[in-house]
Amino acid sequence: MSNKMWGGRFETGPDAIMEEINASIDFDRHLYRQDIAASKAHADMLGKQGIIAADDAKNIAHGLDTILSEIEGGKFTFKRALEDIHMNVESRLTEIIGPSAGRLHTARSRNDQVATDFRLWMRDSIDTIDAALAAYQLALATKALEHAGTVMPGFTHLQTAQPVTFGHHLLAYVEMTARDRGRFADARKRLNEMPLGSAALAGTSFPLDRDMTAKALGFDRPAANSLDAVSDRDFAMETLAAASIASVHLSRFAEEIVMWTSPLVGLVKLSDKFTTGSSIMPQKRNPDAAELVRGKTGRIIGALNGILIVMKGLPLAYAKDMQEDKEGVMDALSALSLSIAAMTGMVGDLTPDATKMKKAAGEGYATATDLADWLVRTLKIPFRDAHHITGRIVAKAAADGVALHKLSLADMQAIEATITDDVFNVLSVDKSVKSRVSFGGTAPKNVKTQAKRWLKKLGHSVP
Ligand code: ARG
Repeated sequence: MSNKMWGGRFETGPDAIMEEINASIDFDRHLYRQDIAASKAHADMLGKQGIIAADDAKNIAHGLDTILSEIEGGKFTFKRALEDIHMNVESRLTEIIGPSAGRLHTARSRNDQVATDFRLWMRDSIDTIDAALAAYQLALATKALEHAGTVMPGFTHLQTAQPVTFGHHLLAYVEMTARDRGRFADARKRLNEMPLGSAALAGTSFPLDRDMTAKALGFDRPAANSLDAVSDRDFAMETLAAASIASVHLSRFAEEIVMWTSPLVGLVKLSDKFTTGSSIMPQKRNPDAAELVRGKTGRIIGALNGILIVMKGLPLAYAKDMQEDKEGVMDALSALSLSIAAMTGMVGDLTPDATKMKKAAGEGYATATDLADWLVRTLKIPFRDAHHITGRIVAKAAADGVALHKLSLADMQAIEATITDDVFNVLSVDKSVKSRVSFGGTAPKNVKTQAKRWLKKLGHSVP
């Protein structure tokens, strides 16, 4: 049997493999809510404009409501033979209200329908992700305030560089996440134009009120060019780009958690809630959640690549290649949501080992820059010379196997005679972090201010 929706000129039905490659219902069924909402808005507008009879519009709306509750109640049978969500819904509408269902498709096409549904879906997904990212920031800022004064080693090249505070480190991710949220918000703003009413590609001869439909669906305006509206998927690319960058941020932190929880490092601990055991090695405590956050970045970036490649050679307007836009996006955004939730959980769960952190911060002569700065500030030595003198003092400390602040004044004076014991005021890691008061610096006082600023911004009461 040929297709009831479009089979007028067809004599036979499709080959089984045609049906299989063509069907998108297995994934675009996730658009059911948006598809029904868009159809309701369209039918309402058609009725108001006198394009279809008011009675038909009413019946259509009623039928669509029934379908929505059937789907949500698990009572709807999705059929692959009906290809996609649009035809599944319309076919069921015909069963429920009879032939007037056929009027719903006046002045529209599946091309503007799917572009509209997918934008609506993306908008909802962005809102969900934004809320999750805000919760992640809240967890980070809360922990940062708790650890505003917890000293840890800061790294460059993964070599101990200068002491920082754990709170400062956590707040770095709050800032990154803020930009991630900004990118999603930006994508949301641009995608919020409505394709519906563009019909297949050229617009329609029916007297639509697209402003009315746009308003009903929460779009800022109807899209101004029908060819563009049905055929671009830049909103999916942009959202996936934002998702990719966000996932890279999560992945970097996940990698730090993996490193820090290694017994070789041991700067933080995760509880039983966020670790797993090994089936063979009873001593193991694996940071699987962090590893999976790091791993899921692969499929998120993969989805971005996928859609860019699908779109790159397509002439205007719609082509069926575009049906390949949904699975990657849906998979990537659910992977991202899961990753954000896992990171939020881990941030709340992790406990820094403050003693170990402080000890590690003091190793590797992390206060060498403080010594050089002291020579510049107090003895007015040019920084390059101060750097050299400090290098010689570090070498002496290394040869004696002691920390910088454990070296005697006499040993230092043997290298630079004018050094006084005031230098010891900057050589401990605590004094080092306390001195970093420049705006954006790691001083506990700064970290407290920044953590509180974020908590307040996130709508949380500040102690
Ligand atoms: N399932 C299709 C998609 O996701 C809907 C649009 C189909 N349009 C068409 N002209 N065959 O892209």
